[in-house]
Amino acid sequence: MAKIVVTGATGTIGNAVCKHLLERGDQPVALSRDPATATSRLPQGVRVQAWPEPQAQTAPLDALDGAQAVIHLLGEPISQRWTEPVKQRIRDSRVLSTRMLTEAIGQLPGDRRPTVLISQSATGYYGPRGGEELDEQANPGDDFLARVVRDWEQEARRAEEHCRVAVMRTGVVLSRSGGALAKMLPFFRAGIGGPVAGGRQYVPWVHIDDVAAAMVHCIEDDGATGPLNVTAPHPVDNAEFSRALGRVLHRPALLPVPTLALKLLYGEMSVIVTTGQRAVPRRLTELGFRFANPEIGAALAQVLSRS
Ligand SMILES: NC(=O)c1ccc[n+]([C@@H]2O[C@H](COP(=O)([O-])OP(=O)(O)OC[C@H]3O[C@@H](n4cnc5c(N)ncnc54)[C@H](OP(=O)(O)O)[C@@H]3O)[C@@H](O)[C@H]2O)c1
Repeated sequence: MAKIVVTGATGTIGNAVCKHLLERGDQPVALSRDPATATSRLPQGVRVQAWPEPQAQTAPLDALDGAQAVIHLLGEPISQRWTEPVKQRIRDSRVLSTRMLTEAIGQLPGDRRPTVLISQSATGYYGPRGGEELDEQANPGDDFLARVVRDWEQEARRAEEHCRVAVMRTGVVLSRSGGALAKMLPFFRAGIGGPVAGGRQYVPWVHIDDVAAAMVHCIEDDGATGPLNVTAPHPVDNAEFSRALGRVLHRPALLPVPTLALKLLYGEMSVIVTTGQRAVPRRLTELGFRFANPEIGAALAQVLSRS
């Protein structure tokens, strides 16, 4: 039974990762700002420890001591209006917590350090892009999110002097319990969903089970180093995504949602749906990782069939 430390375990991705680890017989140790709430939210068998101020305190050494891996997911939610204080929290929660985590890893004696840090990142690294295929070699973007992600990755990679580091450039995660799909569902169910901002921008979607499985794959595979796109092998544009969702829900998905409406509703944050990236998982494919849900229609049907 390997001890695996997970930050942000109470979130959409973290919860799925903890379940996956428990099924494998590992011992997940969740680090949370609020251990009581975390204990009530997480599956039985996950041990919870406090990390009250991830941006200001190094991660608890006793939690990290002897862990096989650390999976670092925590971060202030992106999908909210980006006021200046919110932007600061989006940035600091990721960049500073990663610094506090890598400092703690460095403080452990060499033989007590994790062998790998799996650090969350995002396809937002590439910034708004057209139909250009983006593998891990592609250049970074230069908007707010791209700069946050670049700095977030840089902090994670400081741990390379202590252990192997894989940074997971994750796309739009399909899950019922949170994220973009959960927000879209009420509109599509009511028959008022449709292509956003013209529908030509790519959606680098990925099924939640594949996200959890890719992280576990990268714990085991010594070849998993540096950036890895965690996106399904067949990205689709927003129009095709909308059509697929409409088909699965047996609802029309024809009502276009204009950019201006989204800008008025969400402000600058609307870029996360009005723009996108055609990211492809070149590194994961090279490592032999097999996506259980490679096609959008079947992936949506699978996620939505869950209670
Ligand atoms: N979901 C997606 O589609 C997607 C795609 C690409 C990348 N990502 C990234 O992957 C990570 C996990 O995503 P998720 O969807 O699982 O996130 P989530 O559901 O919003 O959960 C994130 C967790 O981070 C902790 N957290 C929230 N705000 C924080 C703050 N200001 N400071 C410190 N900790 C904070 C919380 O844990 P506690 O309250 O227990 O401390 C929370 O449960 C995030 O960094 C996200 O940006 C997500």
